[in-house]
Amino acid sequence: MKIENVKKLIDEVAAFTAASEKEIEEFRIRILGSKGELKQLFAQFKDVDPSEKKEYGQVLNELKQAAESRVAELRAKVSSKDQSEGESIDLSRPVNQKKVGSRHPINIIRNRIIEIFHKIGYEVSEGPEVEDDWHNFTALNFPPEHPARDMQDTFFIERDPDMALRTHTSSVQVRMMESQTPPIRTISPGRVYRNEAISARAHCFFHQVEGLYIDKDVSFADLRQTLMYFAQTMFGEDTEIRLRPSYFPFTEPSAEMDVSCTICKGDGCNVCKYTGYLEIMGCGMVDPNVLENCGIDSKVYSGFAFGMGVERIAQLIYNVNDLRLYSENDINFLEQFRSSI
Ligand code: DAH
Repeated sequence: MKIENVKKLIDEVAAFTAASEKEIEEFRIRILGSKGELKQLFAQFKDVDPSEKKEYGQVLNELKQAAESRVAELRAKVSSKDQSEGESIDLSRPVNQKKVGSRHPINIIRNRIIEIFHKIGYEVSEGPEVEDDWHNFTALNFPPEHPARDMQDTFFIERDPDMALRTHTSSVQVRMMESQTPPIRTISPGRVYRNEAISARAHCFFHQVEGLYIDKDVSFADLRQTLMYFAQTMFGEDTEIRLRPSYFPFTEPSAEMDVSCTICKGDGCNVCKYTGYLEIMGCGMVDPNVLENCGIDSKVYSGFAFGMGVERIAQLIYNVNDLRLYSENDINFLEQFRSSI
């Protein structure tokens, strides 16, 4: 028996690694087991030369300790690894929930309006939110100093008195008529601004969808039928519409359109103030002056236009009673619309 061999075995023990409980156990049995190498080396102890017995004994003890501590070390390593692996596949652990967000109710309604008109051939058009006087007012038959300009409180741009935040999306009809030749069938969704104190029923910005149809022989009956189709698709087949005479500088005749109350179906309730109807948009036949202002021959062409507030439609669909909720970014409010995406 050579001391060198035992020392080699000690080195081997120190270098031994194992990835599983089974390999460690096999190693333990090989070195420390009742028929293991250590046992055999101790058995040979009696044959060792007396002068070497002391050192031999020490080396054997060293081997025993090295093997025992190596086994303990490897076991600890493997069991902690098992635990962490176990954790990653613990299916009962609560998930770290990520908020996925939801579409804004105004966008949902705007998209629905676009879809409804898309089905009858209307294309989407857009224009700038910072608009010049011509497109927002003058071309639409609001001459300078015309009192109708006061119908909408305007945010003017200080540096350029000719520019303002658009007060309505009717400005986009002007842009479309100027740049296209009839037939024109377009809807223009967008944000508009008015200098109003913010309250549950008014806001300094909101959203509109403007509609415009210009062709030969377009009549008020076409307008009525188009709006009826819209109202019944948006609010339900049994919806009734009502057109009340009104005034807008850019349409003649002009009307305001009401739909039968979405809550009481016309019987009268506090939402419709017991009238049975809810106002949802302005409309009318495009005034010949407006057609001419935009380079369209009013003797050949006629058309209708309409404009509705998206918040107003959303309010009726979702029963939202405070306009401010749409722009407060309150997650609890916005999350309610997740299912209607
Ligand atoms: N621009 C109007 C508003 O903001 C709404 C409107 C009324 C648009 C009649 C139209 C229309 O196109 O024909 O109050």
